[in-house]
Amino acid sequence: MSLVLDPTAQDLLFREAHTANTFTDEPVTDEQVQAIYDLVKFGPTAFNQTPLRITLVRSAEARERLVQHMAEGNQPKTATAPLVAILSADNEFHEELPALFPAFPQAKDLFFSERPARESAARINAALQAAYFIIGIRAAGLAAGPMTGLDFEGVRKEFLDDDHTPLMVINIGKPGENASYPRSPRLAYDEVVTTV
Ligand SMILES: Cc1cc2nc3c(=O)[nH]c(=O)nc-3n(C[C@H](O)[C@H](O)[C@H](O)COP(=O)(O)O)c2cc1C
Repeated sequence: MSLVLDPTAQDLLFREAHTANTFTDEPVTDEQVQAIYDLVKFGPTAFNQTPLRITLVRSAEARERLVQHMAEGNQPKTATAPLVAILSADNEFHEELPALFPAFPQAKDLFFSERPARESAARINAALQAAYFIIGIRAAGLAAGPMTGLDFEGVRKEFLDDDHTPLMVINIGKPGENASYPRSPRLAYDEVVTTV
């Protein structure tokens, strides 16, 4: 009763949505990914850093290289999902900061001149954007299968560079047969929320 979002949308994004482990053969188009990005890019990040970078793994050859770096249990679904994306954090996001946060262009030099500060900020803010991206995938009527069971250094060397930190790999598509596990319990409000 307190939510203004349409209950059907609530179900689509959260209550009925599940992490998918199998997918149909239906392709995921670049147009769909762009529509998802163009929606979720409005999710907030600190100083509007927007450090998330997305690598779409489209070719069979690249898919094969990626599968080698996935944990064994993640390999079959990474090999067969209609689309796989590598999500990473750009540790050099500060170069764009004066344009992205024109209200306070000094932030680039004041807070982000040191690489460790950038790595820390990039990681949390790109992780936030990864969450927005997952919800955006659901908003497109698709399902996401995020995975951190992988060799991060291997993925970085194979697909990225020293300036990018891989965060997760996401399988994307229409859910297939027996796509999800039964819903695991969630912590109740009282277990999570305290008021001081
Ligand atoms: C960041 C992240 C990493 C995950 N890594 C893996 C993984 O490596 N392998 C896997 O099978 N599931 C992985 N999962 C799936 C979670 O177990 C799943 O999202 C969670 O249990 C909720 O499932 P539900 O959406 O069906 O409720 C990951 C999920 C997230 C968000």
